[in-house]
Amino acid sequence: MQNIGIGTDIVEIKRFENFGDPQFTPFLTRNYTQKERDYCLSKDAPAPHLAARFAGKEAVIKALYSLHITHIFYPAIEILNDDRGVPYVRINTDQAEKISIKISLSHNSDMALAFCIIIQEI
Ligand SMILES: CC(C)(COP(=O)(O)OP(=O)(O)OC[C@H]1O[C@@H](n2cnc3c(N)ncnc32)[C@H](O)[C@@H]1OP(=O)(O)O)[C@@H](O)C(=O)NCCC(=O)NCCS
Repeated sequence: MQNIGIGTDIVEIKRFENFGDPQFTPFLTRNYTQKERDYCLSKDAPAPHLAARFAGKEAVIKALYSLHITHIFYPAIEILNDDRGVPYVRINTDQAEKISIKISLSHNSDMALAFCIIIQEI
């Protein structure tokens, strides 16, 4: 049998436009993995990608909560992209056994959005 969890989130991109400010660095290192930072900061405009990942982490947390999985926070949730650009999620915790996570991200000039589905084998 399976349980299904869903989560979504939307964030304003302007919150991430000061990514180059040294005061923003602790936020980046606290909430994003090295690979996420490498991906986002390699872009001409990193802010939409940082915002999309932040929305993605929130969406994953909401989907986990809907399955009663708690205490998983931003740095344990890593959102990367495969060689086609498709985003995927890795969770660095032993609380997330038997789950499969799917995520979709989007961003325009103002907002970034994420939607997540988690399938849990029970
Ligand atoms: C892949 C595609 C759907 C992305 O659409 P988009 O509007 O540019 O994407 P958005 O700006 O809303 O979102 C960007 C996010 O989409 C995700 N993404 C990128 N490529 C993706 C893909 N191949 N599949 C799924 N998600 C993808 C990424 O998460 C990206 O954000 P990130 O780089 O921060 O991780 C689009 O580029 C595409 O190929 N559309 C099909 C075009 C088509 O049918 N052409 C027909 C020609 S005959």
